[in-house]
Amino acid sequence: MTKLKNDRFLRALLKQPVDVTPVWMMRQAGRYLPEYRATRQKAGDFMALCKNPEYATEVTIQPLDRFELDAAILFSDILTIPDAMGLGLYFSEGEGPRFKNPVQDKAAIDKLSVPDIGAELGYVMDAVSMIRKELDGRVPLIGFTGSPWTLATYMVEGSSSKDYAKVKGMLYDQPEQMHALLDVLARTIIEYLNAQIEAGAQAVMIFDTWGGVLTTRDYKEFSLRYMQQIIDGVKREHEGRRIPLVMFSKGGSQWLEAQAETGADALGLDWTLDIGLARARVGDKVALQGNMDPCVLYASPERIRQEVAGILESYGAGSGHVFNLGHGIHQHVNPEHARAFVDAVHELSAPYHK
Ligand code: CP3
Repeated sequence: MTKLKNDRFLRALLKQPVDVTPVWMMRQAGRYLPEYRATRQKAGDFMALCKNPEYATEVTIQPLDRFELDAAILFSDILTIPDAMGLGLYFSEGEGPRFKNPVQDKAAIDKLSVPDIGAELGYVMDAVSMIRKELDGRVPLIGFTGSPWTLATYMVEGSSSKDYAKVKGMLYDQPEQMHALLDVLARTIIEYLNAQIEAGAQAVMIFDTWGGVLTTRDYKEFSLRYMQQIIDGVKREHEGRRIPLVMFSKGGSQWLEAQAETGADALGLDWTLDIGLARARVGDKVALQGNMDPCVLYASPERIRQEVAGILESYGAGSGHVFNLGHGIHQHVNPEHARAFVDAVHELSAPYHK
């Protein structure tokens, strides 16, 4: 086991003292980097990139070679699970993800079962161990999954959606059917995350990208409840160290208090809530990860620095903050602006950790 050279990301998630605030960016390996576009072209397409551990390792490391990031995130996608369940994932250029076989009725849901993780998703675990080897203790590696509800939205709609007509239609008219779908997803995700942890993931994150489109009652019944099931079932220690878990419901900051009760170590925040107010609401229960508007990266480096300063000031002194964007970095951002962001977090945060 190689010793971690930089563990401030793991320490901040556990609210242990750090020298400066750690920072990483959601979608840090992605199309805004010319070297990512080159590797994707070599691989052929996005899924070929995900399914080839050498290429997945290469793109995971690319942003770390450019910027002083404090964590690496496994290069993969949340939709590998429905793909492994036989839905036939593909990406059509400019249109985002699609499924050949969406699940839109009881018969289709009854047919689903927990896939053989080793056989169907072994390529993900191979990527995790290869990335760990390549990182050689440089920074910790984050593993991840989508939340059951977020995966269900894609599985029922068959693609990205604007109004969630099909999946919400099912939720309101066939709640038992929806629960059956969410339950098989939660059971699969527990095995998937545990396999990532055994392969070497040092922290895990649940992306609940579409939790925020639900009513308060439905968020608790159809999204939070299944994330709770996952949190209760996932290994929290490996290689003699705690595996921190981050839960991120985009658009979900009105439910922070309920999220803080789940046993997650940290909550992800989108950019809409002031982080100081979020901290006051959750107290000492959890750490916070976020939350600069990704669109700030379209502004000048001076303006980016100013925004970083404002968020640091609002969070205030002490550990428990992992700096990030409030959602993934956009594909047309200038990589030099990402650098200005990362450097500003380290340079401006030291006074808060004296
Ligand atoms: O953060 C990282 O760098 C790790 C890799 C990662 C990707 N997807 C790579 C990716 C992670 C953590 C994800 C998660 C993911 N995937 C989410 C949850 C996070 C979020 O953004 O809310 C969701 C909803 C998906 C599903 C998905 N995958 C969509 C909707 C798309 C199309 C997006 C688009 O902008 O076209 C993807 C494709 C995808 N996943 C890309 C990347 C880098 C772009 C694909 C490409 O190279 O063309």
